[in-house]
Amino acid sequence: MKILAINGSPHKDGNTFTLISEIFRGACENNHQCEIVHLVDLHLNYCNWCGECYETGVCPINDGFQEHLKQLFEADILIVATPSFNRSVTGYMKNWLDRFCTSQLIYEVDELKNVTKRSRVPSDKKAIIIVQGCTDLLQETIEPINVVMDVLEIPVIERLIVPKVGLTEEDTVDKKEDVMLRAFEIGRNLS
Ligand SMILES: Cc1cc2nc3c(=O)[nH]c(=O)nc-3n(C[C@H](O)[C@H](O)[C@H](O)COP(=O)(O)O)c2cc1C
Repeated sequence: MKILAINGSPHKDGNTFTLISEIFRGACENNHQCEIVHLVDLHLNYCNWCGECYETGVCPINDGFQEHLKQLFEADILIVATPSFNRSVTGYMKNWLDRFCTSQLIYEVDELKNVTKRSRVPSDKKAIIIVQGCTDLLQETIEPINVVMDVLEIPVIERLIVPKVGLTEEDTVDKKEDVMLRAFEIGRNLS
């Protein structure tokens, strides 16, 4: 199986990465293929809602997003992972969610303004969501990811929500044994 993690943190080796790595470590026990994309490296522009992708599924912004979409389509499992920033996802993650959702959602509006939505994402994909932060108020943070997985009809098989990490440099998630074990088990149980 191919597992692709999307890291929405500005840190390539922060707490979000630690949790992704631990899931990967578990997944390696079953020889799954694991890959990570750090959104900080992608330099994605914002969705400007030009509407072109609505017809074709192809985003006309020439910034590598189309190449990235191929990776997304090839993966069996997407790990969508972000720190909490002001009780929401990071800007990197919000931007990625907007680009992914806009380009992959088809909707039709009838004469009574009823909206029918369909997803272009192949139906064999599943998602794992990771959210972590220094407070225990992370429900709002996960919501933008829930919304996009829901409209794109990507079932979420696990949600790893980790409060109270990252307030200082000492509060790293690797010190939380129970959380690390859960992340490892999530990876190991993937089939
Ligand atoms: C701009 C900013 C806003 C933040 N807002 C929140 C927040 O609302 N809730 C929270 O729990 N943590 C918040 N944090 C803390 C980070 O989520 C936390 O340090 C996290 O562990 C960083 O993840 P990383 O190591 O993967 O980058 C914020 C951090 C920054 C820089």
